[in-house]
Amino acid sequence: MHREIADGVFWAGKIDWELKKFHGDEYSTHRGSSYNSYLVKDEKIALIDTVWAPFSKEYVENLGKLVDLNKIDFIIANHGEVDHSGALQELMRNIPDTPVYCTANGVKSLKGQYHGDWNFQVVKTGDRLNLGSREIVFVEAPMLHWPDSMFTYLTGSNILFSNDAFGQHYASEFLYNDLVDQEELFAECIKYYANILTPFSVLVKKKIEEVLAMKLPLSMICTSHGVIWRDRPEQIVHRYLEWADSYSENMITIVYDTMWNNTRIMAEQIAEGIHGKDPLVNIRLHNAAKTDKNDIITDIFRSKAILVGSSTINRGILTSIAGLLEEIRGLGFKNKKAAAFGSYGWSGESVKMISEGLKQAGFAVVNEGFRAMWTPGEEAKRECAEFGAGFVEQL
Ligand code: FEO
Repeated sequence: MHREIADGVFWAGKIDWELKKFHGDEYSTHRGSSYNSYLVKDEKIALIDTVWAPFSKEYVENLGKLVDLNKIDFIIANHGEVDHSGALQELMRNIPDTPVYCTANGVKSLKGQYHGDWNFQVVKTGDRLNLGSREIVFVEAPMLHWPDSMFTYLTGSNILFSNDAFGQHYASEFLYNDLVDQEELFAECIKYYANILTPFSVLVKKKIEEVLAMKLPLSMICTSHGVIWRDRPEQIVHRYLEWADSYSENMITIVYDTMWNNTRIMAEQIAEGIHGKDPLVNIRLHNAAKTDKNDIITDIFRSKAILVGSSTINRGILTSIAGLLEEIRGLGFKNKKAAAFGSYGWSGESVKMISEGLKQAGFAVVNEGFRAMWTPGEEAKRECAEFGAGFVEQL
């Protein structure tokens, strides 16, 4: 299937409705995804990115219906990750001498993964490729989100091929941003940013400012996942600038795991206390062992503060909370406050351990946390609510 999205510019990707997990099992894709590949036909012909490896054969076959593969002059690999480069091996079997344009780090990642002795052409920001009536301009975008990432801009058509940036894991036959359900679209966009781009926010902001300063006319942003931004493409750029700038909403997320419901009771009482103190704050409760990890991360990204709770087990914490602490350590959230809580029967180390984990993850821990022994009775419940109210005052 191909779609002409601008004069001589074709979408030639793959919509993956079946995908439910991405990056191994690391990222949930409830609404599937797509791997967007684009073909530009001018006097010269350029192919921008390919698709994930399992779809290599059908991709190359379909591409062959759109263009004689031998007539492709340039292959551009904006990013070496396998979801965009996976079909290169199959393609290069057909056209082994066609030059592959990528960054210096792109060569490393492509060679490292495919071990092919391909005709690599290393490009840097500002390098151009003449297609005839239009030009391709390269813009390196390291750490958005890999060291090898780059953007490609097509003059004349005014299209920015941004690869992962501005994308979403969202399968849709509609293809364009203005045709899909807006709530679904932006839910997937913020989830993608929160879970993938958060660690690189400083670089995201810098790169966007650099590209905006180029004052390139922009008619579309063609990402490598999800929809093409043709209706006010600048809207997602502005969202990214907000998200990259220590983003938070008036939201508090409470994440806990619980063995015999005691820590759950604490979480709910804390939520009541928060609500009593600030009825306007949006409170989200998640049992980390039951809720999708990436959805929790998205709520943490949106929150100005979080509370993390666990029962004590074996002088430690429950594994879903341990995993979550590791996850947020890697993401490096900025400008968020936090505190810990948990129930215990005997030794009761969990609260201290969670507080330490939160500090290591860069959260400002505002108090020593709150422990409740055994099943919270009326007094302990009241103390939990007071702890929640006090937490609001400490923000
Ligand atoms: Fe969509 Fe970084 O690959």
